[in-house]
Amino acid sequence: MAIWTLLHLLFVLLSTTLAPTAANTEGDALYALRRAVKDPGNVLESWDPTLVDPCTWFHVTCDGDDRVTRLDLGNAKLSGSLVPDLGKLERLQYLELYKNDLVGSIPEELGELKSLVSLDLYHNNLTGPIPASLSTLTNLKFLRLNGNRLTGRIPRELTKLGNLKILNVSNNNLCGTFPTSGAFSKFSEDSFMNNPILEGPELMGFVRYDGGCK
Ligand SMILES: *[C@@H]1O[C@H](CO)[C@@H](O)[C@H](O)[C@H]1NC(C)=O
Ligand SMILES: *[C@@H]1O[C@H](CO)[C@@H](O)[C@H](O)[C@H]1NC(C)=O
Repeated sequence: MAIWTLLHLLFVLLSTTLAPTAANTEGDALYALRRAVKDPGNVLESWDPTLVDPCTWFHVTCDGDDRVTRLDLGNAKLSGSLVPDLGKLERLQYLELYKNDLVGSIPEELGELKSLVSLDLYHNNLTGPIPASLSTLTNLKFLRLNGNRLTGRIPRELTKLGNLKILNVSNNNLCGTFPTSGAFSKFSEDSFMNNPILEGPELMGFVRYDGGCK
């Protein structure tokens, strides 16, 4: 009998120590990014997936609970694509990946980053649409997607982002008209310029040509 009690105890002990913690989940999510990009400058060299959490990795900042709050990888010569796994970084506030050579689309899953304050993906080579899911990022203050090759309409849902202070979607291939309602009423044409198929501000109450959108 005693042997079974002992085995049971051992089992309970092992399953609690081996249970994935939030910190490991975040390390795995970041490691998925490492695997998806080329890193000729070796800026991700310290990203060792065998560590308990990613808080000692360079370019990663954590809070007091060892949860990731910042990813600072602007100007890092990274090429490759973004990964949906980034959406698992529940407490991420700053996602700084500007001025790299990233291709592919912006994962919808970034809409799961409820704490996000800043989404800086400017000056890359991203394609595809701006995900409407970003409209759930109620804390977002900075949304800079300028200088990519994004297509499609600017989702009207984004005008719900009441805390947005800086918006830049200029220098892309967006189409349609740019929204001027809600939180977007404070932005000027400077936020939207150089989109060859984007028309001027939408005129409320008018049916108008829709700037090359299919
Ligand atoms: C984007 O891709 C194009 C075509 O592949 C390439 O010529 C250009 O240098 C790239 N731009 C950036 C900023 O990486
Ligand atoms: C948006 O970015 C472009 C460069 O891509 C810059 O020239 C422009 O001033 C920026 N606009 C705003 C509103 O920040």
